[in-house]
Amino acid sequence: MLGSDGTKKLSFRQSIRDGDLVIVYEKRDVMKAVEVCETSVLQNRFGVFKHSDWIGKPFGSKVLSSKGGFVYLLAPTPELWTLVLSHRTQILYIADISFLITYLEIVPGSLVLESGTGSGSLTTSLARAVAPTGHVYTFDFHQQRAASAREDFESTGVSSLVTVGVRDIQGEGFPEEFSRLADSVFLDLPQPWLAIPSAGKMLKQDGTLCSFSPCIEQVQRSCETLNSNFRDIRTFEVLLRTYEVHEGKMDSFQSNEGVSLRSPPCKRRQRSSESNTVHDSSSSPAVMARPCADARGHTGYLTFARLKCLS
Ligand SMILES: C[S@@+](CC[C@H](N)C(=O)[O-])C[C@H]1O[C@@H](n2cnc3c(N)ncnc32)[C@H](O)[C@@H]1O
Repeated sequence: MLGSDGTKKLSFRQSIRDGDLVIVYEKRDVMKAVEVCETSVLQNRFGVFKHSDWIGKPFGSKVLSSKGGFVYLLAPTPELWTLVLSHRTQILYIADISFLITYLEIVPGSLVLESGTGSGSLTTSLARAVAPTGHVYTFDFHQQRAASAREDFESTGVSSLVTVGVRDIQGEGFPEEFSRLADSVFLDLPQPWLAIPSAGKMLKQDGTLCSFSPCIEQVQRSCETLNSNFRDIRTFEVLLRTYEVHEGKMDSFQSNEGVSLRSPPCKRRQRSSESNTVHDSSSSPAVMARPCADARGHTGYLTFARLKCLS
């Protein structure tokens, strides 16, 4: 994904090499991560795909199986990685991730502290946001989870931007060596209020903190602790509404429950080139959109705060 050479310059590699991680894309909800190995094959319902055929092809290529079936080979961007990674814990998804990276003002060069690492879903996006000169220090008290996250960061190409530490952040706080160096701190912990005093000590003047909690009781308790050293405390719930967009006949467009949509948001109006008149035909193909039935609802609350002036 992000090939970072030793000089901290970012290069976006264009072609697939032996040992690379690729996202094999069959369709929008059927994708998986595969490590390319010259002697291996991928077998699925479309046939047998030889990895050796993939090497040297640009990311994004369509590749064929022995039976003439095809898949696409995509680069493991943080957005796709979040959809295919192995869930060792609950994870953060793109709606929360994109909002929090913006609201925390994380930019290339930022130093970010995070706990817990969990499955590394957020960490991968944080790494890309701070690249090429920043760094993410992420901590989890679960040794095996930390080790698996390190392996994943190697595979996705962000390991030079991330350091994983094993530490009980609620009990011990962040290591003193980061005192007043962090631009931002992110917490996804069961009792974040225990880690907030330490987070406050790690932040630079005007630094930003965000805590993710699934329950409002956790938010209330965190806000009570934030009140003493932080200002600008705000809580958000990010709800993403996804739409399915289809081209089809008006009267064949049924929701999952079999109910016709009474007023679709968009219907293509066709203009006859000969008569130059506009006519609206409900039996001709139309582009229609409807909310996805399986859209994700509540994930959690994001509470943001800014460190009070130190002097
Ligand atoms: C929900 S997961 C984090 C998921 C992560 N944000 C992601 O997107 O993949 C919470 C993590 O916090 C870790 N954790 C819980 N208590 C901790 C503590 N006191 N110190 C450090 N990590 C802790 C757990 O081991 C778990 O991996």
